[in-house]
Amino acid sequence: MEDKKRELFNLAVKLETNICRLYIFYRDHFTEEGSFWAKMAEEESHHASIVELAGEYYDKFPQELIYSNAENLKKVNRDIEEKIKKYAEKPPSRREAYEYAYNLENSAYEFHFQNVVSKKSESREIKRLKELNKDDRDHAERIKKLLERPGTV
Ligand SMILES: [Fe+2]
Ligand SMILES: [Fe+2]
Repeated sequence: MEDKKRELFNLAVKLETNICRLYIFYRDHFTEEGSFWAKMAEEESHHASIVELAGEYYDKFPQELIYSNAENLKKVNRDIEEKIKKYAEKPPSRREAYEYAYNLENSAYEFHFQNVVSKKSESREIKRLKELNKDDRDHAERIKKLLERPGTV
C-alpha cells in the first residue's frame, strides 16, 4: 500500500514536470504568447515542487484523499511525452497546441488529489494541494481566454 502511494506521488510529480516541458516548448515556439507560456511553465514547475514536498509525507496521507490512479497517470505522462516529441519534429498549429493544453489542464485537475478539496483538516500539505487544485482550474480558464481572444488562433 505504501509503495502504491509512493508511486502515485512520483507519477504526479512527473505529470507536473511534463506539462512544464510542454509549456517551455510553447514558450519557445509561439513567441507572440511567449510570456504567457513562460509564466505557465514556471507555475507548473512550482506544482512539481509542491507535489514532491507533499510526497515526503506520503505515509501520513490518508488513502481516501488520493483520487489518482496510477494507470491513468502513466497513460497521460506517456501521451505528453509523445506529444512533445511529435511537436518537436513537426510543430503543431496554435489551435491544436492550445486545445491540447486546455484539455490537459482539465484532466490534470482530476489527478490532483481531487478529494483534498473537501477535507476539513488543514495541515500545510493539504492546504498546498488545495491551492494546486484551484490553480489547475485557473490554468484551464486562462488557456480558454487565450483560445477565445480574437486573432490568437
Ligand atoms: Fe500543474
Ligand atoms: Fe496547470
